[in-house]
Order: sequence, then C-alpha cells, then structure tokens
Amino acid sequence: MYNDNPTLLSIKNIDELKQGEVFFNEQTEKEAPKGKKFYIESYGCAMNFSDSEIVASVLADVGFSATRNMEESDLILINTCSIREKAEDTVRKRLRIFDKVKRSRPGTMVGVLGCMAERLKKKLLEQEKLVDLVVGPDAYRDLPKLVSTVEEGEKGVNVLLSREETYADISPLRLDSNGVSGFISIMRGCDNMCSFCVVPFTRGRERSREPFSIVAEATDLYERGYREVTLLGQNVDSYKWKNPETEKVVTFANLLEMVAKVHPDLRIRFSTSHPKDITDEVLYTMRDYENICKYIHLPVQSGNSRVLELMNRTYDREWYMDKVRRIYEIMPDCAISSDIITGFCSETEEEHQDTLSMIEWANYTMSYMFFYSERPGTMAARKYEDDVPLEVKKRRLAEVIRIQSQVSFKNLQKDIGKTYKVLIEGDSKRSDQEWKGRNTQNKMIIFPKKGNHQPSQYVQVKVTESTSATLRGEII
Ligand code: SAH
Ligand code: SF4
Ligand code: F3S
Repeated sequence: MYNDNPTLLSIKNIDELKQGEVFFNEQTEKEAPKGKKFYIESYGCAMNFSDSEIVASVLADVGFSATRNMEESDLILINTCSIREKAEDTVRKRLRIFDKVKRSRPGTMVGVLGCMAERLKKKLLEQEKLVDLVVGPDAYRDLPKLVSTVEEGEKGVNVLLSREETYADISPLRLDSNGVSGFISIMRGCDNMCSFCVVPFTRGRERSREPFSIVAEATDLYERGYREVTLLGQNVDSYKWKNPETEKVVTFANLLEMVAKVHPDLRIRFSTSHPKDITDEVLYTMRDYENICKYIHLPVQSGNSRVLELMNRTYDREWYMDKVRRIYEIMPDCAISSDIITGFCSETEEEHQDTLSMIEWANYTMSYMFFYSERPGTMAARKYEDDVPLEVKKRRLAEVIRIQSQVSFKNLQKDIGKTYKVLIEGDSKRSDQEWKGRNTQNKMIIFPKKGNHQPSQYVQVKVTESTSATLRGEII
C-alpha cells in the first residue's frame, strides 16, 4: 500500500510521481515579474522536497522567480533521487522531455540537482548532453555562480560534500505549500551504513543543524498560520548539537520539546526514526506533549535477523520487537509505520515469511514497500550477490503489500465510532464540499464541510466508515 500523504516522510515513492511534482510560488512570481524564471521538479524523499525550498530561496535572492510552466522558464531544474534504479530511470525520462523544451527554446538551461547529481558527478554531463548544471546537495549556495558560468557558455558543476553545511541561515521559500504543514530540515547526511543504501554516498556525513534556527523557523511558520511542522532527517534520533560556548548537548528529545513549546496548537511530526537510536527519552517527550503527534515511522526493512545483519541495520528481530513493545507500552495509541525491502541478497522464502509475520505483529498502520534494487558502490553491491530473481522479489513484494493492506484495513476499521482531533488541510481530492485532514496518528480523514471552518483549524471528527486507505467521518 502506498500512501499519498505529502507530509509523511521517508521516501516519497518515485513510482507514484508520474509527472514529478512541480513547485510553484505565486509570491515570488509577483515579486520579480521581469526577472528570470526557474522551474523545478522534485523526486525522492522529503529531504529533497525540503532542499528544493532552499534552492528556491537561493535563486529568489538573485532575482529568479518560480514558474509552473517549464516552457516559459529560463532554468529547468530537477532535484533527483538515486535510491533505486527506477528512481534514476524516471529522471532520465524527464530529461528527454526537457530536451524537447530546450530545442524549441535555445538558451534554456537544464540543471540536475540532488542525489543523482552527487552519485554520477561529471559523468552526468557525458551521459546527458542537454545538462548544463550538476549540483550536489551540499552545494546549493553556489547556484547563482554556477548559473552565471552556464550563461557564459560553460558547464557548471559543484558536487562537493560538506561536513558543516546545514543551510541553517537560509529561510526556505515555501513552494506549492498548503499553508498548513511545512517541513523543517534538522540535519543532513547519514552516518549509518545500511548495506543496500546509497544515501551515505549521495548525502555525505551526518551533521545536525543549530537548534535555535530550527525553533525560529517553526515559530515563523506558526505565525504565518501553519499548524504542523515535520522535522526531517535520515535518522532524526541521532540528532545531536553541542553548544560551542556552554558545551551543553541538545539531543533529539530536547529538540522535540523545544519545538513543542513554540505553541500548543502547532503539531510536531518527525521522520525518519532508526530503531537502533530512538530512546525512551524521546518516547516520554512524545507522551508528555499533546502536540507531538503519536506516530512513529520506524522502518524495519526485514523481519529476519540474518537478513538484518546482512543489511547492516545493527538490530535484530527481537531487538526491534522490544522497541515496538516499548512504544506501545509508553503510548498505547501510538501508530507505527515501516519501510520494507523484499528479495535482499540471499533472502530465503522462510526469511521472507518473517517479514510477513512482522507486519502483522507490529500492526503497522502503513508501510512503504520496495523490492531490492542493487545500487553501485554500496556495501551490498560489493560484498553480496544480487541473487534473488526479479520475479521472486516482485512476488514477495506483492505478498508484503497484500498483508500490509489487510493490517491497514483492520486498523482503520477499529477507528469507526471513535472521535479524533483533526487538523484541516484543505478540500478533499474529490470534492470541495468535503475537508481532508489528519488525526495525531497520521490517518487521513475525509468529512463533509459544516459551519465556518478553514484550513489550519482543528475540529473534532467522529469516524463513521472506512475505505481501503482512508477514514470518513463527520464534524461533531
Ligand atoms: N533513512 C531512512 C530511509 C531512507 S531511504 C531509514 O533509515 O529508514 C528510504 C527507504 O528506501 C529505506 O527505508 C528502504 O526501505 C528503501 N531503500 C533504500 N535503499 C534501497 C534499495 N537499494 N533497494 C530498495 N529499497 C531501498
Ligand atoms: Fe540509508 Fe540506512 Fe542511512 Fe537510512 S539509515 S539513509 S537506510 S544508510
Ligand atoms: Fe532522498 Fe533519494 Fe537522496 S531518498 S536522500 S533523494 S537518494
């Protein structure tokens, strides 16, 4: 089951984003009517979507405004993902489309940003002739200079990774936002070395952003009417910032509390939690603040201890189960979701069964599910044979999806009759007579409009029925 929830973190499944997602901001367009225009599409995880807002801010500072229409843009950007082969294929397909635009409008610049830029570096310029700019995730401050280089007729490349860059002082330009929920990046990079994963290579070393700028960003969003922030990082539980003067350390639990105190009406979400790092202190902080949502994305990847070891996840099945028990013990109504990979190197049928049983046991409300895709340069690619046949990987994935759908459906049915505090996000997809919003457990609820409510307001909604992926209810 895939979730169409834009604020839910971890991977946005590239397979779903057929057209890519286009970022647009009316405000910038109004501010710089005569300036140059850029068009940006983002793929991959929420970090990438958040980074595109940094990019937009950097470009706005030098007079570029955003447009939704690539045909009228001077600069076409694609913020890319390398997590699976398919993600990169999608990007290459989009580049074919940009090529057509470039032919009809000579002078249009095309830039590849993000993880694929970092992974392929200059090779991208050789493989994709239309590309003018290749910019890695830590080099966005350099964009104005690189764009000038391209305007002078050369190619612009900067793929240097940094140990310090957090863009802490850059105020993101909120693109295509619903004005209700926003992302706040709290750290960058990843120091874990999960053997299947390309992220440590594309995003570099882990570093935490200075906490006061995070609180300031949350406060600013609150003052502008936002009512939900999602704190982003590949592994938020290892957030750690040391005050250089006092030597005092701010942990993720401390940071959660600081952000929760911005205002009781500002909801806090976060993603992603690594099972090895989430602490009791974090769980207690969640429990103690009503505005910290009772929802944890806790990717298991596999339910089998041998496979987990090969994956270098540094926990085993029992350890993971203990963590889940602890979460339900401290917050009985907390929802947990997961990421799952099927058909990892040498995974047997029996080991796959362990993943199926984990989905039921942990009672995930939803999962992002993938079949294993070997990534060049990763430890798994170097050490293990990608020996599970594609049909088997896909069949196992279908089984995982089936079990997860059943578990999700059962979970939704249990909500019928319950009343939840829901933050209105906007009109439902189907009708402007209905609102959509989420409860604390990140479950989407659709309900008919009644009274004078607006997006960003909280309402009490009683659940009356459930469909396969959402709940329906009515305001009480
Ligand atoms: N930092 C997060 C996940 C980032 S990547 C975490 O540690 O949980 C998001 C998800 O993509 C991963 O959780 C994993 O399930 C999936 N993924 C990563 N590499 C993959 C690969 N090579 N093949 C298939 N799925 C992969
Ligand atoms: Fe990849 Fe593991 Fe880091 Fe997540 S924690 S980004 S899966 S290396
Ligand atoms: Fe995110 Fe994809 Fe990069 S998942 S960190 S955009 S490889």
